[in-house]
Amino acid sequence: MNAVATTFSVLESAAMDTALRAALQGPRGANPLVGAVILNADGEQVAVGYHRGAGTAHAEADAILEARKAGIELRGTTMVVTLEPCNHVGRTGPCAQAIIAAGITRVIYAVDDPHDPAAGGARTLRSAGITVESGLAAADALELNREWFDAVASKRPFVTLHIAQTLDSRIAAVDGTSQWISSPESLADNHSLRGLIDAILVGTGTVLIDNPRLTARDPEGGLSGRQPLRAVMGRREVPQDAAVRGTDGRFLHLATRDPREALSMLFEEGVRHVMVEGGSSILSTFLAAGLVDELIVYLAPTLLGSGTPALNDLGITTLSQAQHWMWDEAGGGSVRTLGNDLRLHLRPTRPATTQENSLPGSEAAEYVSGGH
Ligand SMILES: NC(=O)c1ccc[n+]([C@@H]2O[C@H](COP(=O)([O-])OP(=O)(O)OC[C@H]3O[C@@H](n4cnc5c(N)ncnc54)[C@H](OP(=O)(O)O)[C@@H]3O)[C@@H](O)[C@H]2O)c1
Repeated sequence: MNAVATTFSVLESAAMDTALRAALQGPRGANPLVGAVILNADGEQVAVGYHRGAGTAHAEADAILEARKAGIELRGTTMVVTLEPCNHVGRTGPCAQAIIAAGITRVIYAVDDPHDPAAGGARTLRSAGITVESGLAAADALELNREWFDAVASKRPFVTLHIAQTLDSRIAAVDGTSQWISSPESLADNHSLRGLIDAILVGTGTVLIDNPRLTARDPEGGLSGRQPLRAVMGRREVPQDAAVRGTDGRFLHLATRDPREALSMLFEEGVRHVMVEGGSSILSTFLAAGLVDELIVYLAPTLLGSGTPALNDLGITTLSQAQHWMWDEAGGGSVRTLGNDLRLHLRPTRPATTQENSLPGSEAAEYVSGGH
């Protein structure tokens, strides 16, 4: 947006670092990770905000709220934010208007919002007399939301892959039983994720074997307030009495084996974040196609020795073709204990940065995915 290169102060750069770190506290998904910091006239960081996921306050509004709670006078302050403030009325109000109403006089953001309906926030701010500059830490801000930018550019939903597996990478025993490999704490975590996403996707195989409901449920088993669309992928018919059909009309059969086509059908339905939950064939087809933005693995300290493997053929025949993943600190961290299980959170590594895979806060370590 800015034609002229801008020089930013040390305090502004430090504020952008704070905003980038704050952004990482939010969950990945339909919306980007965004952090915002408010600086007073002396350049001191007086409030920090971040976005907690679809349907919640945007980072700018969160920072303004934090400032108000602390009794900070917002007139004449500067806001430093990792993404161009939005201009659209979605599930929350437009951030540009909130910034104008607060009396903030300067806004520094890292990268433009690529999302058409939201773009244009900078223009609105400038028309209101606010000084707007961009480009500070742009590379870091792009990397923060690399997969989200890719998904928006490709007009497809953001894809989270979910696997609940044993220590030896099995998702079901020989007789097909799979409920429940995970601890109750992992199941509760999965159900809270289901309440945040737009759609869950499984294959016809899982429906025919497990007859899952695919609803978001609270720990007592009741339905959560927000229910995702339940999508089943595959050419076979989904039985009329399958539990996944439900009675609320939030069911969709994607009669295809092409993951790209499945994603574009979901996008057409308004889905911006889909969680692929299995089984092996569907998990593998999305991984082999390079269509996974986020990987969540619940690893149970259990051995089966035989049974259904988490993954099938990914088309990899030699180690140099292995898929590489990196630990993802966003939304609660890369490795967490949930009951007896470990919850692993990863994002794809770009080929050029494969050697930089590292567990934040620990020694650099090469991590190989594709052989779970
Ligand atoms: N632990 C877990 O997290 C978890 C989660 C889910 C499932 N599971 C387990 O996974 C097992 C089922 O795995 P699964 O692999 O048999 O079933 P699946 O992946 O759910 O479905 C496989 C079917 O999907 C269709 N399909 C659509 N696109 C495809 C593609 N690109 N490649 C191949 N098939 C495609 C095919 O059926 P069509 O002929 O209809 O096209 C195929 O037979 C069950 O035992 C279940 O319990 C475990």
